[in-house]
Amino acid sequence: VKKFETIKQILGEDLQKSPSHSIGNAFAPSNIALCKYWGKRDQELNLPVTSSLSVSLGSKGATTFLEIIQDNHDQIILNDVVLQSDSPFSRRLVTFLNLFRSNPQLKFKISLHSNIPIAAGLASSAAGFASVIKALDQLMGWQLAPQHLSILARLGSGSASRSLWQGFVEWHAGSRDDGMDSVGESLTETWQDMCIGLLIVSAKEKILSSRVAMQRTVTTSSLYSAWPTKVAQDLATLKIAIAEKNFSLLGQTAESNALTMHATMLSAWPPIFYSSPETISAVQKIWSLRAQGLEVYFTQDAGPNLKLIFLQKDAQAVQMNFPELEILQPFSN
Ligand code: PMV
Repeated sequence: VKKFETIKQILGEDLQKSPSHSIGNAFAPSNIALCKYWGKRDQELNLPVTSSLSVSLGSKGATTFLEIIQDNHDQIILNDVVLQSDSPFSRRLVTFLNLFRSNPQLKFKISLHSNIPIAAGLASSAAGFASVIKALDQLMGWQLAPQHLSILARLGSGSASRSLWQGFVEWHAGSRDDGMDSVGESLTETWQDMCIGLLIVSAKEKILSSRVAMQRTVTTSSLYSAWPTKVAQDLATLKIAIAEKNFSLLGQTAESNALTMHATMLSAWPPIFYSSPETISAVQKIWSLRAQGLEVYFTQDAGPNLKLIFLQKDAQAVQMNFPELEILQPFSN
């Protein structure tokens, strides 16, 4: 009901308009949060307790090809594999698309391509929902501004609200009940020589969805009450670090923010622990490299994989220590 109200506010009359094209095709980048979104104040609208800040991953992300079909159900294809209609991902996507159909008979073929592992804590759902809403915008002929698409993408997955832009993006928590002020904003600053390394220790699907894990943390973790204060400090510090190009400050803040988020999960019940033995040995290796003077930091989301953060001048040294690392330069491709 609340979701429908949001859509009505954004689309108005256009909600009833039939599609202007028969296809839509769009790419959206993945994004990695340097200051995390962890906890909702509204589960239906995916409204966050706090603001968050991310960096988008350039050409890494998801492409959606959307086509109207004459059928009585949607057809969903993920990386060239046709999904069963009762798979969790199909259900989530169909529920999302249901919000926007101008009539219930309107059915789609949705072909999604992700060039990063799905559901391995690499923010593939963010890129997925952002690319779906962009493709839908084309097909329906809405011609919405990115801010509005950010609000609509959030209804599919919170972090998707940050995947409408490249570069640094802040998702403002907002305070309104209808979420119209809970929206992504692209920051003007860039950081040419910043590198993100994807350390895939496991490409398997995660054990617990971020939705369930977040809610369990909010309702059972005794440490969660400290989280909003920590985020407010880290967000302010990250903005200073970005403005002043203070890399040590950025790295320390991002790593500490991620560890604090995981600490809130450890203190939930039943406890949530996304790290595998490989995650832990990589973390220890990063800390020992730092002790030797190599400035490399990490962040971790709802899965065992790590994202390493370092500068271009250290890329070769980092790669030598992590030969399997895939290095991305978010600001120079
Ligand atoms: O958007 P969701 O529901 O997949 O949640 C994402 C949560 C984290 O990736 C762990 C943090 C973040 O801000 O991206």
